[in-house]
Amino acid sequence: MNPDLAWEVWSRERSERIENVLDGALAVASGTPRLLLDAMRYAALGGGKRVRALLAYAGGELTGADPDDVDGPAAAVELMHAYSLVHDDLPCMDDDALRRGKPSCHVAFGEAMALLAGDALQTLAFEVVVRTPAGEPAAQITLLAKASGASGMAGGQAIDLATVGDMLALNELEHMHALKTGALIRAAVRLGAGCGRPMRADENDALDRYSSAIGLGFQIVDDVLDVEGTALSLGKTAGKDAVQRKTTYASLLGLSAARERIEALRADAHAALGGMPTARRLIELADWISSRTH
Ligand code: IPE
Ligand code: IPE
Ligand code: MG
Ligand code: MG
Ligand code: MG
Repeated sequence: MNPDLAWEVWSRERSERIENVLDGALAVASGTPRLLLDAMRYAALGGGKRVRALLAYAGGELTGADPDDVDGPAAAVELMHAYSLVHDDLPCMDDDALRRGKPSCHVAFGEAMALLAGDALQTLAFEVVVRTPAGEPAAQITLLAKASGASGMAGGQAIDLATVGDMLALNELEHMHALKTGALIRAAVRLGAGCGRPMRADENDALDRYSSAIGLGFQIVDDVLDVEGTALSLGKTAGKDAVQRKTTYASLLGLSAARERIEALRADAHAALGGMPTARRLIELADWISSRTH
């Protein structure tokens, strides 16, 4: 850890680092159909804020992990996330033609190839999550599987799609958000932290509290930006939640209450980890997540 690096420098360095790691993970392998690999590379490289990778590296700094050891888990959460976006954009889901400032994967490669690219990105995530000498492989795989499966991201997406047109209650909305977005964000922090020294029970609890707060906060910001942002600023279609009749924080409580909730969650993230010197990057990430504009 270099505690002197400004946030902007640290986050840029780590973003460049994960780009290289992902590029290596998606290198041409003999026998892999070029079209499928192209679709996977299109979806996973050269875009995105890399929040989940940054959270993994920041989680690693909390427990003194070597960044080299965090590369595999950080790449795994980004690959899993990239797969979730490819599928999220499919016509049978959100039917979105723009992602990361370019045509969605299915627009560029066709639906069948996008479906398969998502599948293969997901399985690649499991391959790379154990590409680290740190941590316990079975535990890392289980963590990633639970976060992205039926009781995590996929489950949250199922609720999202099954409740189109319904007005969810606040607790139902928070449950959906905790699954569809929060679960993988929590796993990112946890996988990174798992590459360093073992944590005490109280540190574990603090990390859970932090991760839950920023995981929910991240999706509320996404909901607010869907209302306030533009396709140009977001790199994806704006205003689509209202058109598609999704319940969001903004639709349920209004923008100003949504902003208050984001701020309260940011404060909670600070309260959870504020006293720990090695939590600096996690705290900076909490601030960035709550104030981001894209
Ligand atoms: C978008 O995630 C989808 C959600 C889970 C809200 P990001 O906002 O992290 O997307 P990228 O990776 O920066 O494109
Ligand atoms: C998607 O949520 C969450 C995922 C698991 C991909 P959204 O549908 O709100 O994400 P965007 O707004 O399309 O990026
Ligand atoms: Mg969606
Ligand atoms: Mg979507
Ligand atoms: Mg959204």
